[in-house]
Amino acid sequence: MNVTIFGASGLLGNALMREWGEDRVVGLSLPEVDIRHADQVRAATERTRPDWIVLAAAYTDVDGCESNQQLAFAVNRDGVVHVAEAAKQLGARLLFLSSDYVFDGQKTVPYEIDDARRPQSIYGRSKAEAEVRLLEILPQCCIVRTSWMFGIGGKCFPDTILQLAATRSALDVVDDQLGCPTYSVDLARAIIQLCRKAAGGIVHVTNAGNCSWFDFARAIVQGAGLTTQVRPVSSQQMARPALRPAYSVLSPASLHRYRIVLPTWQDALRRYLDERKISLAAGP
Ligand SMILES: NC(=O)c1ccc[n+]([C@@H]2O[C@H](COP(=O)([O-])OP(=O)(O)OC[C@H]3O[C@@H](n4cnc5c(N)ncnc54)[C@H](OP(=O)(O)O)[C@@H]3O)[C@@H](O)[C@H]2O)c1
Repeated sequence: MNVTIFGASGLLGNALMREWGEDRVVGLSLPEVDIRHADQVRAATERTRPDWIVLAAAYTDVDGCESNQQLAFAVNRDGVVHVAEAAKQLGARLLFLSSDYVFDGQKTVPYEIDDARRPQSIYGRSKAEAEVRLLEILPQCCIVRTSWMFGIGGKCFPDTILQLAATRSALDVVDDQLGCPTYSVDLARAIIQLCRKAAGGIVHVTNAGNCSWFDFARAIVQGAGLTTQVRPVSSQQMARPALRPAYSVLSPASLHRYRIVLPTWQDALRRYLDERKISLAAGP
């Protein structure tokens, strides 16, 4: 299988490049290919001639998207259209990474793949509009929605918590948003399996279980053997430019249909903390 990954230098892209064995994999990143430019995307895919394209490139600064709306839609919606059109022209399959932020967070039971999209932020809107356009251009594409990703090779919540915990005696973390933390390594492995199984349609892929950011931060601090106090606060007390869904737990039913089951987020966190220790010891 020939595979081309857009966004290879990102958190997920790093994990995909490390985990993907056997197949011929080409990773593309900025500045080599900017997905806002259709001609650059077309030239790259004509060169790599993929059977599968994994589209992990995105403008992922959720708060930044609120003040840079033009950039958010240019990358996260129009860039996706460019990649979908290139895939269609070549007859390649496409797996696109989307987000729990396409939902409004008003449910109290896990979101299923056919629940209505009702994004609350610009980032969420750009992803939701990309999904709709993508399904028009390539109805057989695979859309993987994930959430709360963490891992080595990029900015993520556990890394931020550990850096702060190293210098502070207490941390305030919101306890009224629930979601599913997802380890980039486990997500990458699931994506590889989905491509091998020729998956299509929307699939929700997260580690098993759910928690609040507060629960997650407490588990991170404890798992790292630190004594920093973690204090629960409300989203209102920690106001941010972009609204976050209060509840964004994604149902794993669509993933289980492919006989893929991911470990719990607690198990994933333990492996991440081990990997981080090794990576820090190895140096930059
Ligand atoms: N992280 C999460 O919690 C989360 C949750 C749900 C869904 N997702 C989705 O999962 C995917 C991967 O996320 P991630 O956390 O790995 O993201 P990330 O670490 O921010 O990486 C994004 C990648 O996209 C590249 N990129 C940005 N603008 C580009 C452009 N105009 N043209 C080409 N490449 C561009 C970045 O390049 P540079 O590094 O050079 O900027 C980087 O390689 C994204 O689609 C994201 O929306 C992420």
